[in-house]
Amino acid sequence: MIRTENLCKDFGPGRGVFNLNLEVPKGCIYGFVGHNGAGKTTTIKMLCGLLKPDSGKAFFGDIEVNQSNIGKIKRIIGYMPDITGIYDQMSVWEFLDFYGAAFKIPPKKRKIRIEEALDITGSAFMIDYQLSSLSRGMRQKIGLAKTLVHDPEFIILDEPTSGLDPNARIEMKRIIGKLSSLGKTILLSSHILPELSTIASRIGIIAKGVLLAQGTLKEISGQIQENMLVMLSVDSDPNSAIQILSSVDGISGARLLEGSQIEFRYSGPRDTVSALLAHLLRSGVAVRWFSEVEADLEDVFMKITKSSGA
Ligand SMILES: Nc1ncnc2c1ncn2[C@@H]1O[C@H](COP(=O)(O)OP(=O)(O)O)[C@@H](O)[C@H]1O
Ligand SMILES: [Mg+2]
Repeated sequence: MIRTENLCKDFGPGRGVFNLNLEVPKGCIYGFVGHNGAGKTTTIKMLCGLLKPDSGKAFFGDIEVNQSNIGKIKRIIGYMPDITGIYDQMSVWEFLDFYGAAFKIPPKKRKIRIEEALDITGSAFMIDYQLSSLSRGMRQKIGLAKTLVHDPEFIILDEPTSGLDPNARIEMKRIIGKLSSLGKTILLSSHILPELSTIASRIGIIAKGVLLAQGTLKEISGQIQENMLVMLSVDSDPNSAIQILSSVDGISGARLLEGSQIEFRYSGPRDTVSALLAHLLRSGVAVRWFSEVEADLEDVFMKITKSSGA
């Protein structure tokens, strides 16, 4: 797994990274979310050994990120920065071969690795293209292929979908899913929140350098959601159902929607929602369906950052 222990980098109040305890389990896709300036790139650079923390530690498996382990770390991680430096005068092949050589991969094996990296990223057709001729989406794929040439176990992508058009974003997410199915542990950052909710199995939310929450999307929304939106549909008289609901502690805003659908807000412990349904049934309401409307990531994020004053 990828782990940090009280990682700190202080660039001033609210700027940098403060006591960060990241936990990225092996084999998961971890979405690292936060507004611009929240501290994502600073964290990632410390993870990759490119920026020295003021204090705290970072680990990949059992290996601590420090000066004496930096060679080992570089072999097991693949890092794609937010701005991929691409050498315009090279062809795709030359570029990847250059990186493979930098990792001291012998030429025969290098050729195989480059072909695999191009294959995974759906870029085999670009092999002889000049880098200067590539579109933004194509460049990003080659940047990712470069990150894969030495077959790293851990993959760290800083805003991999940023600046891409919708199709290229979908394609990038498809490739990331494929890497995950190959058993890679992946950390990717984004300031576009719903971007990650469809792909990441775990999420960490950072604001002003502080990790506000991490876990599965469900766990995170469970932590902070005091105000749940619930919808139900009834076969009996909806107005009497609304009356019954409105008399329950914690329920507000019960109203009739189209047809016989009812919506209400409930603030209370999540595990008491089932008791609400039981209460309705006991009171003679014929409930056809009853469902908590899941908070989406944007919602969760807004609530967490608001409640922390970030
Ligand atoms: N080298 C630096 N010197 C001073 N401040 C920095 C430096 N790097 C980043 N910062 C500040 O730290 C904060 C976090 O930046 P960054 O990690 O790049 O955020 P993100 O990647 O989430 O957009 C920002 O306020 C940024 O201005
Ligand atoms: Mg950044």
